[in-house]
Amino acid sequence: MPAAGVDVAAAVSFSVNNQQQRVSKRATNDETVPSDVTSTTTLAEYLRQHQQLPGTKTMCREGMCGACVVNVTSVNPATGQMESRAVNSCMVPLKACHDWKIETVEGIGNRKDGYHPVQARLAQMNGTQCGYCSPGMVMSMYSLLKSGGEVTEEQVEQAMDGNLCRCTGYRPILDAFKTFKADADETTKKIVKDIEETAGCHSNKRGPCQSKTACAGCPRVKSSSTAADDDWRLPTSLQQAISDIGTMSNGGKTIRMVAGNTSMGVLDKYNDPSDGYISLLKIPDLRVIKRPGDQKSKFSSSSDGAVFGAAVTLSELISEFDELAKRAGYKHCAEMAKHLRVVANTPVRNAATWAGNLMIKHKYRDFPSDVFLLLTAAKAKLKIAEGRKMEEMSIDKLYEISMTNKIIVSMSLPPMDNNKCVFKSYKITPRAISAHAYVNAAFVIPFDAATAKITERPTLLFGGINDKFVHAERTERYLTGRIISDEATVKGALTTLLDEVEPHPDPEHADVAYRKRLTGNLLYKVILHTLGDRVPVRMRSGGDDLTRSTMKGTQEFDTDKTLWPVNKAMPKLEAQIQTSGEAEYVDDQPDLPGELHGHYVLSTMANAKIDSIDASKALALDGVQGFFTAKDVVGSNKFVSMAMFGPLFNLDMNKIIPEEVFAEDSVRYAGQAIGLVVADTKAIARRAAALVKVEYTQVAAPVLNIRDALKTQPEGWKQTTFAPFCVNTGDAEAAMASAPRRVKGEWEMGGQYHFTMEPQTVRVIPCEDGQLNIYSATQGIKHVVDAVADVVNVPAHKINAEVRRIGGGYGGKISNPIPIANACAVAATKLNKPVRMVLDIENMIEMCSGRFPFLIKYEAGFDDSGKLLALKMHFITNNGYTSSILSALELQEVMHMVTSVYNTDNWNVTGGSVFTHLNINTSCRAPGSVNGVAGIEMVMNRIAHELNMDPWEVRRVNFVMGHGNDPKPPMVPNDEKVFSMMVKEMEEKGEIKQRKADIATFNKNNRWRKRALSLVPLNYPVALIMKHPVLISIYDKDGTVAVSHGGVEMGQGLNTKVAQVCARELGVPLELVSVKPNNNLVNPNGVVTGGSVGSEMCSMAAKMACDQLKERLQPFRAAEGEPERPWQQVVQMASMMGANLTAHSQQTPIMTPYIVWGLTAAEAELDVLTGEYRFNRVDVYEDAGKALSPLVDVGQMEGAFTMGMGALLFEQFRYDPQTGRRITNRAWNYYPPTHKDMPRDFRVKLLKNNVNDLGIFNSKATGEPAVCMANACLMALHQAVIEARKDAGLTEWLHLNSPGTVEYSQMACETSVEMLRLS
Ligand SMILES: Cc1cc2nc3c(=O)[nH]c(=O)nc-3n(C[C@H](O)[C@H](O)[C@H](O)COP(=O)(O)OP(=O)(O)OC[C@H]3O[C@@H](n4cnc5c(N)ncnc54)[C@H](O)[C@@H]3O)c2cc1C
Ligand code: FES
Ligand code: FES
Repeated sequence: MPAAGVDVAAAVSFSVNNQQQRVSKRATNDETVPSDVTSTTTLAEYLRQHQQLPGTKTMCREGMCGACVVNVTSVNPATGQMESRAVNSCMVPLKACHDWKIETVEGIGNRKDGYHPVQARLAQMNGTQCGYCSPGMVMSMYSLLKSGGEVTEEQVEQAMDGNLCRCTGYRPILDAFKTFKADADETTKKIVKDIEETAGCHSNKRGPCQSKTACAGCPRVKSSSTAADDDWRLPTSLQQAISDIGTMSNGGKTIRMVAGNTSMGVLDKYNDPSDGYISLLKIPDLRVIKRPGDQKSKFSSSSDGAVFGAAVTLSELISEFDELAKRAGYKHCAEMAKHLRVVANTPVRNAATWAGNLMIKHKYRDFPSDVFLLLTAAKAKLKIAEGRKMEEMSIDKLYEISMTNKIIVSMSLPPMDNNKCVFKSYKITPRAISAHAYVNAAFVIPFDAATAKITERPTLLFGGINDKFVHAERTERYLTGRIISDEATVKGALTTLLDEVEPHPDPEHADVAYRKRLTGNLLYKVILHTLGDRVPVRMRSGGDDLTRSTMKGTQEFDTDKTLWPVNKAMPKLEAQIQTSGEAEYVDDQPDLPGELHGHYVLSTMANAKIDSIDASKALALDGVQGFFTAKDVVGSNKFVSMAMFGPLFNLDMNKIIPEEVFAEDSVRYAGQAIGLVVADTKAIARRAAALVKVEYTQVAAPVLNIRDALKTQPEGWKQTTFAPFCVNTGDAEAAMASAPRRVKGEWEMGGQYHFTMEPQTVRVIPCEDGQLNIYSATQGIKHVVDAVADVVNVPAHKINAEVRRIGGGYGGKISNPIPIANACAVAATKLNKPVRMVLDIENMIEMCSGRFPFLIKYEAGFDDSGKLLALKMHFITNNGYTSSILSALELQEVMHMVTSVYNTDNWNVTGGSVFTHLNINTSCRAPGSVNGVAGIEMVMNRIAHELNMDPWEVRRVNFVMGHGNDPKPPMVPNDEKVFSMMVKEMEEKGEIKQRKADIATFNKNNRWRKRALSLVPLNYPVALIMKHPVLISIYDKDGTVAVSHGGVEMGQGLNTKVAQVCARELGVPLELVSVKPNNNLVNPNGVVTGGSVGSEMCSMAAKMACDQLKERLQPFRAAEGEPERPWQQVVQMASMMGANLTAHSQQTPIMTPYIVWGLTAAEAELDVLTGEYRFNRVDVYEDAGKALSPLVDVGQMEGAFTMGMGALLFEQFRYDPQTGRRITNRAWNYYPPTHKDMPRDFRVKLLKNNVNDLGIFNSKATGEPAVCMANACLMALHQAVIEARKDAGLTEWLHLNSPGTVEYSQMACETSVEMLRLS
């Protein structure tokens, strides 16, 4: 037993939502009571699985998504003060929580005890859609408020930098939280007062329940137990820690020191447990912060400068640096604090220590640590303890020594002569925040301002290059003593630097050429920064960072009171239970007794035969219950997702290779399911799956992209016979031949991972009479049931499937959940036990299908006015390993969208496809549409470039209204007027002319910053082709109404819209209507919810069911002229007389499409030297008819636009070229947009007073069109690149492939060393 410190092995105690918890040590010999907690159990697992507090969500489990954020209050052992902070519970080991007060989303407010204002405001201000991110958002904001002080808009945005949302576009979340700012105006105060009264909020200051008895947010279980092993120590002094190291490492045992444990998120997520753990959090000496001049402490002398204990967190470092920066000699700390604010994100920084960071770098030298660069540049010194020895060393030295059994104790920061030195650092990342660096750099330039001379050897440090490179030593030497205002010095320094920098090629990271160029550009940047006013005005912005102001936005729409509650702007029905964590998702359902957990064994090769599968080691692991492969499938191992759609598209189904539940003899893509391990816990299943050995033979190089596939599949250049959709008007060949001008080109668009915040999840539960209960997070219950029935040979009527809601879909839960449910059903039926499967992010990204990538080839003939006279275009898509129904749909959508608002005389647009060693791609929000729009808009930009015209003018010249020789869907008479009016309004209210003039001036005056404003129109045809049944029951007890519809609520507000329709049609208050889960009794044959039309189709079916009910109730209503009978009385009379108060209805698909019109103006600003960009302002103008629910529809537009920005700008798959594995398989290396990537000024407007005669209640769909509108951002960014190229003397056209990442944007600017001049 430890001589001092806390005996954690005996008991860990802490409180959750004010209820004391105890994890006691299990009696040594008592094998009968299994321990539920180990040293690797995380707080998130404990809350969700042990305490049944599922409000706290998990997704990435690596600190990137923020779904798991909780609040922690604990005592700082150095100061004795209580501290409160947001942390990622997915990375906190439970045993580190000793003495902590933990608050979860359930604890701070709930339906029973009253909601917290943060929960209420987020819900009522439309800040949730699918709701899966909402508890994490709430807890980040709650923690900010709890940390005290006045809240500013900047602080709100900073506090939310670790929370991703895939649905909303962030604007409503930030708006809701900014209402807490100290100087909120009177209108805002009034709004929030009303919200809080309506929601029955308790006081702002109230934390979790104070009662000693159970409350709604209290943990369900009082105590847990841990195994008897004495593997966790919590020393309370440094001496004790050192002694613990000695005893625990005895016999060569592995020990791990635990500070914030966030390195788990960086690299150790699934590593085997260590033999022992030593927590550093309770050691006062390691939490010490000493300012210069403070009294000498145990490990520092007064000459040390500022001193920081090793367990000081990055958040504490930032606050302290801000303070230090006010002192002489520490001005540079302001720059360090600024840089640290973009290291990881707030909840991570609240736990992460600087010493832990240095140790990650110690283990993995190529880790692009920002902390290492900053502290090295600042010449920090470390104190390191080993046994009784204490050694002082520079940071460089740390990387030369072994750290086995040593502890970093503290770091001292000496002052720097800020008058004589320039301290500057950079971090260039794939997105604005919460991303690690492509390349980072820290510079200290000893500089004489009078002579522009570098007086001493400068420090030039770079990260992200290779595992050895840190100092640009030769360049440092070169620059010493030189005048940097001298052009020759700059050139010499850059040449030397580029000569000595050798980035290491790594398929996971940015290209070598970009990283190399960045180093030169960053050196040039710091020179411009250092020289300041000495360089011409035109160059100066090159020395500035690309900053981002706080986000603001406007939303305009109208509402028609005569239709209320339809068309009323109201929050979503389930918003409040989402923000309080009370909304239930599949994995929130508690385990049944004996429920098992599955983990896939996935193929690690894309193109190989399976030689052997050896699961013996996995099966030998304690807790493993089985391993299943193709041999275990009793029904068919093969299935075709959504085969029922084949005839609709007239497809040759023989051309589809069926999917396999488990690979039989060969694998077609890396990530393909080979087997499934089922075990008592997820952790055991995961560990066992890693032990299954698969041998491959006949391993061949995979073909992964369209260009490579075309080398052996030239037929991809031709129109596919599988999906023969095309646009064919006039005579494109002849018109092309006679066109006065012609251009040709080819460019590419990448795929996209859906990145739902709720992981792919399914539970399959065998029950009586051979029946199966299935809870699947799916967009299409029928498709899951159909496939499972065949796979396990169970008739469809014996499968009871239900889905209440899903945490985001966007197409990712159409085909992807099917194989997962199949595999789980195989295991559940074999074992006759409930089996649950929640995919880890790595498995999801590797295994699941994503958006279809495209290669687009075009030839355009046009005249001098920009008029397009002929167009030949061919879209080639990457099917994956086979054609599918969804690839047919994809090409069909391309054809629907490519025509847009343009004259289509003499067009020949066709679609082809190729096969690769990828999974079959699938629909992703606005499938094919976003590519069709991009295809034609790129042609417009190209023509403009050739003619040196404004692209908008070219677009305008080609607008066509009315009908001619074109394949567009018929327009209703109003349409022509609608679009023209939108154009006029956007031009005027968007101040397009003036802004373009300003941009031209800006571009002229700035060599290294470029702006561009791009307007892109939209003509989005929508056909109501899905079918979703609806069942409505009225209860005679109290007149309340329950609805179950065949759509899946995934954040799009479907339940809200259906309830609004029911309330209006039946003439009852909305509160009387309750929406039930979708199940396959009510909805046996309804198809997938997608294509933006689920809400409309369900609303239509609901209206029809209401019509039936109204007819049945009519005889019981008061006769004309008599006083109206109360609703409840009518219902009761009808029921007594035997009227059927349940109605079932299903609308027939409506094939006549209507058009959603749209127009977007996006203004981009590009930092030419780095490729970073931001969108200063975006106006999205869309025609939603008479919106069913305007606030919901605004949310849909903002969210769709954000997803489009992700696809077109940020999100990129990278593959291992040898194995074909998707290596961007984590939230660490796959980058959906954060709130800082969003337009700084985001204006959304719904067209007012438009009536859509073809839509339900005159509405139009809003879920997908705005994805396509994000093309305006890509076009604006491209235009900015073209402006940069012009300054470089490059006038020839260059395509910017999509995604237009920071890397690609900079590379497209083609800056060279020769251009990096001072004049
Ligand atoms: C989502 C996310 C994003 C991130 N982004 C960035 C980024 O952009 N830039 C960047 O630089 N970093 C980034 N990081 C890394 C982060 O800064 C580190 O994970 C963190 O600082 C590690 O500190 P910790 O206290 O959590 O260490 P722990 O995880 O507790 O420990 C890490 C290692 O250090 C050892 N250790 C800890 N303290 C000591 C000590 N005093 N003496 C000896 N050994 C010790 C441990 O044994 C362990 O091996 C990110 C991390 C996450 C999770
Ligand atoms: S689950 Fe914890 S940050 Fe994603
Ligand atoms: S509401 Fe944020 S992820 Fe769905």
